[in-house]
Amino acid sequence: MSSNSVAERIRPVVTLGDILGSEDAPQMGSAALAVAKTPESMYQGACMACHSTGVANAPKFGDKAAWEPRAALGINALLQTAITGKGAMPPKGGSAYSDEELSSVIEYMLSEAGLAAN
Ligand code: HEC
Repeated sequence: MSSNSVAERIRPVVTLGDILGSEDAPQMGSAALAVAKTPESMYQGACMACHSTGVANAPKFGDKAAWEPRAALGINALLQTAITGKGAMPPKGGSAYSDEELSSVIEYMLSEAGLAAN
């Protein structure tokens, strides 16, 4: 096995470069991360830890069946719940995102599950 393939195997699943779309990203520091806030990068930064695997029964990312009844509540209801927290989910998922940012992340999570909330 070449050292290259070892590096590929132990590479983190998601690197800062993936989030920012640039391999130069790790040298740019956290200021760059704040500038590059997209729904996807915010999801990865604060929500993925629980929602990717369904920690403590969090609705899993991309799981339509888990999200469908929630989407039916409407984006405003989901946003309110995300702001205050619910069950094992802390307020704002522990992030410092604004309401607009949280709303955009929720819409992103719904659309990745093939859903849209009204
Ligand atoms: C510490 C783990 C954790 C983190 C971090 C987390 N969540 Fe959650 N989330 C949960 C759990 C657990 C539930 C299910 C709560 C329940 O139904 O009791 C949930 C439910 C939700 C729901 C559905 C609420 C509803 O009304 O059913 C939304 C929307 C949501 N999370 C969005 C987010 C967003 C956006 C982030 C990132 C900013 C985030 N979560 C971060 C654990 C987490």
